[in-house]
Amino acid sequence: MKKISIAIDGYSSTGKSTMAKVLARRLGYGYIDTGAMYRAVTLYALRHGFINAGAIDENALLSALDDINITFAASQDGHNEAYLNGENVEGLIRGMEVSDNVSAVAAVGGVRRHLVKLQQAMGHEGGVVMDGRDIGTVVLPHAELKVFVTASAEVRAQRRFDELRDKGDTDVTFEQVLANVTERDRIDTTRAESPLVRADDALLLDNSEMTRDEQNEWLLNAAMRAING
Ligand code: DC
Repeated sequence: MKKISIAIDGYSSTGKSTMAKVLARRLGYGYIDTGAMYRAVTLYALRHGFINAGAIDENALLSALDDINITFAASQDGHNEAYLNGENVEGLIRGMEVSDNVSAVAAVGGVRRHLVKLQQAMGHEGGVVMDGRDIGTVVLPHAELKVFVTASAEVRAQRRFDELRDKGDTDVTFEQVLANVTERDRIDTTRAESPLVRADDALLLDNSEMTRDEQNEWLLNAAMRAING
């Protein structure tokens, strides 16, 4: 069967990574979480003192980019995990400190150009599902299948709120989570470098009213049509 490239972009908290992983497993394709790469660079920058009170020393960070080696490897239970210079950082890059600073790091043009080159090298042979914000527009503009995932801000905030509650965070209110989702949408869609936009040829998936199984089926059908078409 022909091996294609699949680009999955969209807003935060739409569940697109989960969906992308399921699709990659079903097709026997590689999966690349480009958000994890921006997060790993952010962790490196924090550790080396390149970010102070939210301000980034861009020159120091850009000079260090060649020393930042990011790889992925499967864990024993088959999950794809991120490594920074050989260290498994999968847990650390999901923490609050990285989450609070990653949007600013992802807005630095030199960081984006560096990571886009690496992502293009990872995707050039096809047989890959890549998820992020600029995959269909910048990283893999010739991907045979592009999907843009969205859901209403209220639905995404509710999902994130439920996740936080499940993790034991009882301090946060729904209104705070909704404000955070709306603010991240604003930053993602208005930044100067590669803002989040739907590629003209991307299929739109609004999953506000869909179950996980329904989304997975929708995506597999779209992939099979692209592979056979
Ligand atoms: O998908 P995520 O939450 O792990 O992404 C982390 C951050 O990186 C988020 O601020 C969006 C940004 N990002 C990006 O700008 N481009 C990508 N291809 C992937 C993520």
